[in-house]
Amino acid sequence: MVKIKTKLTKIGRNPLRQKGFINPGTYKGSTMIFNNYQDYLNDIKNADDRRTFYGINQNPFHKQLEDSISKLYHCNDTVLSPSGLASIIIPFFAMLKSGDEVLINDSVYSPTRTFCENILKQYNVKIKYFHPINKINNFEKLINKKTKLIYLESPGTATFDIIDIPFITKIAKKNNIPTVMDNTWASPLFCNPVKLGIDIIIDAGTKYINGHSDVLIGFVSSNKKYARKIRTAAKTLGICPGSDEVYLAIRGLPTLEIRMREIEKNAFLMAKYLLEHDLVSDVFHPALPHTKNHKIWKRDFSGSTGLFSFILKKKYSNNQIEKFFNKLKIFKLGYSWGGFDSLITFPPLDKREFKNKNTGTLIRLYCGLEDIDDQIKDIKSALNIFN
Ligand SMILES: Cc1ncc(COP(=O)(O)O)c(C=O)c1O
Repeated sequence: MVKIKTKLTKIGRNPLRQKGFINPGTYKGSTMIFNNYQDYLNDIKNADDRRTFYGINQNPFHKQLEDSISKLYHCNDTVLSPSGLASIIIPFFAMLKSGDEVLINDSVYSPTRTFCENILKQYNVKIKYFHPINKINNFEKLINKKTKLIYLESPGTATFDIIDIPFITKIAKKNNIPTVMDNTWASPLFCNPVKLGIDIIIDAGTKYINGHSDVLIGFVSSNKKYARKIRTAAKTLGICPGSDEVYLAIRGLPTLEIRMREIEKNAFLMAKYLLEHDLVSDVFHPALPHTKNHKIWKRDFSGSTGLFSFILKKKYSNNQIEKFFNKLKIFKLGYSWGGFDSLITFPPLDKREFKNKNTGTLIRLYCGLEDIDDQIKDIKSALNIFN
C-alpha cells in the first residue's frame, strides 16, 4: 500500500476519465436528464430515502470527493455539506427523536452547543454535558434508556482537552449507542476515529482539507451501520454544497500532508515558546507533555496541528487586549483556521457548565504558514504591552 503522501496526490482524481486533465472537471446544477422513461420510473422508488437522480443526491463529481473522504477516514460513506456546522447537525437529526437524550463533552465547539440549546431542545431532546476529563470514570452513570447519541469533540474547543475516546466508545457499544466525533482539529491525517471505535465522523473541510480559507464545506463519514441513516437524513434536509467548493476541497487534498506538517511544527514551537514566557500561566496544546491526557493524545493521535490556546497569569481589560492586538502584524483577528494566515481569538468560556479555575485571559492561536521566527517575534512584541 502506498504511503499517505502519495495517496493524497491520487485520491479523487482519475486523469484517464478526465480527458487527460490531472484535476477533475466539475458538474454543476440541479437537473440530471434520464436516459429513458423506464429509468425515471425506477428512480421514483428511491424518493423515500432521497437517492433520486437529481443534483442534490447524485452529482458524480461530488461523489469523487465523497469517496476520497470515505477512503481517508476508512468509512463506508461520506455526505458533503455546505459547512462544518451543517455537517454537525446531520447526526442529531438522523438519530434523535422527541424524548431522547444526548451526551456531549462540555468543551464542544460553541455553535454545536447553540444548535443543541436553541433547536434540539425545541424538539424535546435532553442534552447532558460532561467534563471531557474530570470524573470520566463515572461516564457510564450518565447513560440511561433514553440516551440515543454520544457526541464528542477531541481535542475540545478553546481548552484543547483530549477525551479518552476508546474508553467512551467501549461503553457506547455495550449500550448500543452511536458515537459521533468532530475530528476537524486532527483531520484524517493525524487521527483515525474508526480505530478508536467511533461510528460517525465530522470534519469541517473548511479548515485543513481546503487549507486556503476560501471555502465553506463539511463532511459526515459513517460506518456501514449508520451510513444509510445519515445519508437519508442529509438529503431529506436538502443538504448539498456548491460545486466550486467541492472542487476546491479536492484541490486541497494533495498538499494536505505538507501543509499539516509545517503547521504542526510551527504551532508546537510557538507553544513551547509561550510555556516559558513570564506572563503565561499555562499552554493548552495536547503535544506538550505536561498537559492533561497527553499520554492519551500520544496513544490516539499521530500528530498535532496549528490550533491551541494559552492563558495569561492576569485577566486583562478589553482596552489592554485591544492594545496587545493592535501591536500584532502577522496574527489577524478572525474566526476559523486551517489556512495559511495565522489567526488569534479570545474565546469566552462562559456558556460552559464546568467552570475553568484559571482566571487569566485566554488566547487562542492558529499558527499558519508564515515563518515561525516571524510568528514568534510578532507574539513576543505584542505581549510586551502587558509588561
Ligand atoms: C472544531 C470545529 N468543528 C466545526 C467547525 C465548523 O466549521 P464551519 O466553519 O465550516 O462551519 C469549526 C469552526 O470553527 C470548528 O472549530
